[in-house]
Amino acid sequence: MKDAAPHTIYLKDYTPFGYRIDGVELTFKLHQTATRVLSKIAFAPNPEAPDTTDGKRFFLHGEELNLISAKIDGVPVTPRDVAGGIEVDVPDAPFVWEAEVEISPETNTALEGLYMSNGMYCTQCEAEGFRKITYYPDRPDVMATFTVRVEGDLPVLLSNGNPVERGEGFAVWHDPWPKPSYLFALVAGDLINHPGAFTTKSGKEVELNIWVRPGDEGKCAFGMQALKDSMKWDEDTYGREYDLDIFNIVAVDDFNMGAMENKGLNIFNSSCVLASKETSTDANFERIEGIIAHEYFHNWTGNRITCRDWFQLCLKEGLTVYRDQMFSGDMRSHAVKRIEEVLTLRARQFREDNGPLAHPVRPESFVEINNFYTATVYEKGAEIIGMLRRLIGDEAYRKGCDLYFERHDGQAVTIEDWLASFEEVTGRDLAQFKQWYSQAGTPRLKMEESWEDGTLTLTFNQTTPPTPGQNEKNPQVIPIAAGLIGPNGDEVVPTTVLEMTEATQSFTFEGLGARPVASVLRDFSAPVILEREIDNDTRAFLLAHDTDPFQKWEMGRALAKDTLIAMIVDGTEPSHAYLDAIKSVLVDDSLDPAFRALSLGLPSQDDLAQTLVDAGVSPDPQRIYEAREQLRHILADHLQDVLPELYQENETGAFVPDAEGSGKRSLRLTVLGLLSLQDSGATAKALFKRADNMTEQAGALQALLSAGLGAEELQAFESQWKDDRLVMDKWFMMQVAFAAPEKASEVAQHLSQHPAFTIKNPNRFRAVFGALTANHAGFHHASGAAYRLLADHLIALDALNPQTTARMSGAFETWKRYDADRQAMIRAELERILATPNLSRDTTEMVSRILSA
Ligand code: ARG
Ligand code: ZN
Repeated sequence: MKDAAPHTIYLKDYTPFGYRIDGVELTFKLHQTATRVLSKIAFAPNPEAPDTTDGKRFFLHGEELNLISAKIDGVPVTPRDVAGGIEVDVPDAPFVWEAEVEISPETNTALEGLYMSNGMYCTQCEAEGFRKITYYPDRPDVMATFTVRVEGDLPVLLSNGNPVERGEGFAVWHDPWPKPSYLFALVAGDLINHPGAFTTKSGKEVELNIWVRPGDEGKCAFGMQALKDSMKWDEDTYGREYDLDIFNIVAVDDFNMGAMENKGLNIFNSSCVLASKETSTDANFERIEGIIAHEYFHNWTGNRITCRDWFQLCLKEGLTVYRDQMFSGDMRSHAVKRIEEVLTLRARQFREDNGPLAHPVRPESFVEINNFYTATVYEKGAEIIGMLRRLIGDEAYRKGCDLYFERHDGQAVTIEDWLASFEEVTGRDLAQFKQWYSQAGTPRLKMEESWEDGTLTLTFNQTTPPTPGQNEKNPQVIPIAAGLIGPNGDEVVPTTVLEMTEATQSFTFEGLGARPVASVLRDFSAPVILEREIDNDTRAFLLAHDTDPFQKWEMGRALAKDTLIAMIVDGTEPSHAYLDAIKSVLVDDSLDPAFRALSLGLPSQDDLAQTLVDAGVSPDPQRIYEAREQLRHILADHLQDVLPELYQENETGAFVPDAEGSGKRSLRLTVLGLLSLQDSGATAKALFKRADNMTEQAGALQALLSAGLGAEELQAFESQWKDDRLVMDKWFMMQVAFAAPEKASEVAQHLSQHPAFTIKNPNRFRAVFGALTANHAGFHHASGAAYRLLADHLIALDALNPQTTARMSGAFETWKRYDADRQAMIRAELERILATPNLSRDTTEMVSRILSA
């Protein structure tokens, strides 16, 4: 039975399940519309559960299941239907539960539980999808070993763990590691494997496979290498070894998220694993490497040690994101990676913190847990791990991790358990630090400087603005990495970590000859907003001389932002301080090309809108768009004499998707964007014709589209790639993302009628409508057409796929930033969505929270 009345679940109400499981046996008789699932589960009373009636209630989750039969110790029983599942009377001793249910994968458009994607059976069980497969205590603190028999008329039949038996029309798998149901997976289809092998540090041979649909087998080599690199890295860096005989990855076209870490059988959105130079951009390669690592790293941080309840989601996600970030930094460049991380953190997490959806990294309540797979849980969760490590040092961090793995292997645990390991190895009290998990909002850190007799004093003041349900905020522990640069440009004090714990606190640097310039929040050492009085000359000075690459970039960014804000607010011409500083970075051969490309990039329109709001100015999206376009033209003029040469110099030879090659291409294509404003697209058109890789082909097309050109190339692109789903997603996306503001909704509407558009494929839906919401001036066009169009499609999608609908409704989270007319239009659309009959619990929760702003 579906849980009809949505209700709120609280962290404080946690109680253990009344029973433990001694083993699960499942048999799947696959059928598109009538799959039979037989379960045989050995239960025993849980001595750790409180002896309350509720604790001993035998309740099994189940949704959209057709119960055929149920037995206890071999005797047929008739369970009672209750909200969200069933209840049965059971003996006060160990017993065996058996059930047979029928489900319909073919009609499962929510892509949760067992469903079909292009003729292939696959599953997604996190967070609460297993209850759509069979009756079960579908909660992460119930861990069990699984034996799974898959019967079906398909060549490849996969599940978790190690293969046990294989015969005509069936396969049996056994997973020896106890796991919660959310890590269950099954795949069946006509698939081809790209094989590989890895020998672990203790000499264990592991068979590796990437399984794909016929036709995609040429796109697996890069992912396979990334998997091997990840396995090696986790051994070298965390001492963690793989623990099964086989590791399978499957690529699936229809998937709500990026990928899923099911034990021994990772399932990936095909966009996050398939790669080839012809079809994938450098950014795709980098993302694929990171996601393969992320899912692999979950084997220890998530699977061997899992979460006690879903409030602890950041325990596995924040930590695993932190681990994949460090891996990517080691594989590529830490400096570039850090800047990219901060860009995403600010664009997504700071944005979330600033609006009605703000919540703590460990939330205290939820209606639908799928709505909490957020930038806050993931990205801010990762920042907390980085801060912890910076505060206690690398050695103590590793020791604490070792202790955590040793102490909690095989358990479902909490943030308290995680922190206790570090308290033990360091002897530190982490009580105040722990507030990072419970207090929502981005702290504002104000800095003042004073200089006297060779002593520089930095005084910081921290405040965190109120967020929904949290008006009062306490001071946080903030690690502030800082260094000092002398007037001649030499570093006089290298990076040191100032540990701030009070609301206001001063730090002094003594014995200095001349007044230095402070470089503060190096490497973005805490997820805060730093406010300091600093003029453009000082910024340009730090941009030229700072030894910290993040701060160097940050100063260029601050100059660009100030320039744009002044242009928007009163039409001020861009300052030469900015234009000259950018030019000198751009031509400085000693700097990494990837860094130079990032420095040339301008702040996004969304970022500028928030900056205006913070300054008390109502943002006009059209004005922001125009100012940014104007600055692009001014930059193109100002850099005229260096652009062609930079374009030539950064040509790469044969395509290799590594840091060096992608850095050069990124600089070259950023330059091409400006060049296209001056040569009517001649250079970009030539590159488009000649490109032998997607990075350059798509880069050239984007340069043309953002100069208002490229109609012919769009057509050529479509006829070349019409049979490649992932490349066609790019084709859909680019047209909407780079449409002029007054055209964006029309283009999206038109593309939603294209024969290759389908609302059922999340990648395609996001390509069109995600791009529409990312086109800031287009989405917020004064006509309100884009608001209406998005709402229409969200309403249509909700009936099929609540999870993706709810996620995409987040586009409206910033609505209170804008003027009264826009707010009224958005409110009307949100209310229209909310009034839809049978609206999902997912979307109801999201839209209500957004409206409550
Ligand atoms: N655990 C997956 C990952 O981060 C994400 C699964 C998200 N699933 C969901 N239903 N929201 O790798
Ligand atoms: Zn994850």
